[in-house]
Amino acid sequence: MTERKQPYVIAEEPGEKYYCACGKSENQPYCDGSHERLKTGKTPIRVVIEKKKTVAWCGCRQSGNLPFCDGTHSKL
Ligand code: FES
Repeated sequence: MTERKQPYVIAEEPGEKYYCACGKSENQPYCDGSHERLKTGKTPIRVVIEKKKTVAWCGCRQSGNLPFCDGTHSKL
């Protein structure tokens, strides 16, 4: 699993995003379909961004508020 000890902080444009919940995507933090190819048993989390904003996507995948960072990485 691809894990980081920090979030992916990205200036997002409005639209539909698919957060990689399995950690195997090569296009983090977004799903690239690897979960199906690798049969991870996980599926991406769909998020609709309504207006342009900066998003802190969870990188450690331990957040209590997935797909968003809640600071849990600092306790790992
Ligand atoms: S590649 Fe990870 S959820 Fe799709």
